[in-house]
Amino acid sequence: MIPQSFIQDLIERLDIIDVIGGYLSLKKRGANYLAKCPFHNEKTPSFTVFPEKNNYHCFGCGAHGNVIGFLMEYQGITFPEAVSELADSVGLLVPNNRVDSQHLTSNRKDIDTVLSIATKYYEQQLKESETAINFLKNRGLTGSIAKLFNLGFSPNNTNGLRSVFDDYDKNEYLLQAGLVIRKDSNQIYDRFRGRIMFPIHNTYGKVVGFGGRSIDDVNPKYLNSPETSAFNKGQELYGLFQSKEGIRKSDKIIVVEGYMDVVAMSQFGIRCAVATLGTATSEFQVKKLLSRADNIIFAFDGDKAGRKAAWRAMQASLPMIDDGKLISFMFFPDGEDPDSFIRQHGATAFWKHVEAAEPLSEFLLREANYAVSLESTEGKAKYLKEVKDLLSKIKAPNLFLLMQKKVAQLVGVSVDELALGQRKRVKRTLVTNSDSTRPRVISKILSIMCSHPNLAKACNLSQLVDFEGCQRELASKDEWDLIYYLVKISLEDKEEDLLEKFRGTNTEGLVVKAQSGAYAMDTLSNKEMEVELRGAWGKLIDQLKSVRVSQLLEKKELSGTEKQELMNLQRRHQ
Ligand code: UTP
Ligand code: MN
Repeated sequence: MIPQSFIQDLIERLDIIDVIGGYLSLKKRGANYLAKCPFHNEKTPSFTVFPEKNNYHCFGCGAHGNVIGFLMEYQGITFPEAVSELADSVGLLVPNNRVDSQHLTSNRKDIDTVLSIATKYYEQQLKESETAINFLKNRGLTGSIAKLFNLGFSPNNTNGLRSVFDDYDKNEYLLQAGLVIRKDSNQIYDRFRGRIMFPIHNTYGKVVGFGGRSIDDVNPKYLNSPETSAFNKGQELYGLFQSKEGIRKSDKIIVVEGYMDVVAMSQFGIRCAVATLGTATSEFQVKKLLSRADNIIFAFDGDKAGRKAAWRAMQASLPMIDDGKLISFMFFPDGEDPDSFIRQHGATAFWKHVEAAEPLSEFLLREANYAVSLESTEGKAKYLKEVKDLLSKIKAPNLFLLMQKKVAQLVGVSVDELALGQRKRVKRTLVTNSDSTRPRVISKILSIMCSHPNLAKACNLSQLVDFEGCQRELASKDEWDLIYYLVKISLEDKEEDLLEKFRGTNTEGLVVKAQSGAYAMDTLSNKEMEVELRGAWGKLIDQLKSVRVSQLLEKKELSGTEKQELMNLQRRHQ
């Protein structure tokens, strides 16, 4: 654990504008700074850095945090990694409160040292073991690939590591790193014995743990390092360090299940593979992957376990995927895995298979349909229930919209009907601000009007006259004022810098939010945008009518004019 006081000190020493400005191009706006948000797609900047509060907030996607959070999100690194990088940048040494105060070197450093010595030891042992070399040769691996991945071998020796650690019996870091185990009798012995050693590197190339594969069918087949302060299985990905360049060049990452798969693929020239560490793919890992490439392909075994792993990976991907990214899924024939497939069929056949991978949207809709029949109403209802829950996790606006359309078609309802039943849940995940009960039609209107102010004249303000007493049920006064204002300047053909105009007022936030909401529609032409606006306006008027009808119906007694009004409304409503 890093002491809280150190973190506080670190944050205070750093200039948030310097740090974030190193990654994004920040523009000064009043006391704050604006940039296009790096965590979602947007055309107009809504990512704001507040130097006084020492934090940032994106009005578009709700991303929020301090310098450390920014670095973690932006680089997809862990908390300790971000702290250590930032501390380095200001010349601070990260202390550790588990270590006595007279120890100035950090605990993490000592675990690092122990792991690095062990890696070299295992590598050396591999060179000296014919059995281990033959095992790798039989798997088609050459010495240069073994070297690239720093593969090693742990001999079948109870205290093998003693030969490189003089203080083997009392070295706390060996224990903390999970390399040795202490028996109840206080005797120490090596965790890994008789295994091919796969060092797991973090993104900076430091070894943080090991996977060890038995070479003589001893159970378990793989033994992994326990989680330590340096190693979190849900955050690391095997092979990411070695694949960095291949990933950058191809803009792809192929995620497989096994260490052996990554290494075999690399042997066959596929240098953009990574593996999860025997655990389900986490959201953190997906985020890490997406920060490095636009195309992520999960390539899993075709057996039941592989399908389940893919489903879990899909679930972890939903909140993380952005429009502009492609996540897809592929499976190998039963009994095969990437390693056996590529050895048998070669790299060309492998790539063909990869190209045929199924996009996340199709995978989701098809797999969800696996056990239900869409022939019956009950089947459709069950399908809808499952799929809606999944869709509600998607934060990418375009993907969300398009998938909604697909689902609506599949079960034979309209998108509106589908969205109606879904509104609450979607709101909760899509909008992080507190005023999330407002019907979406208002947000849509404001988004279009604020991003295309000249279109606002398509809306007829006189239609609002009859509903002045109902307006506040649907939107705040500021929002209505903004709508009136936008239509007015559009009729006068005036151009305004809205942000400039409303700087410092409550409306500024509304404009920022509305403009950033428009990215959901940024593939539309001006004409299509106008059609959208007219449609939304029509809906708004309908909603006002319904509000008015309920107001009248709730009254105990209606006057003559009110009766007339109600009749008119209901007639027009049908
Ligand atoms: P596999 O059983 O598919 O092994 O496990 P593999 O990687 O294909 O290895 P070979 O081809 O049999 O040599 C896939 C992954 O699941 C984890 C490991 O991360 C492994 O790479 N695993 C598997 C364990 O953690 N423990 C086990 O006992 C088995
Ligand atoms: Mn295998």
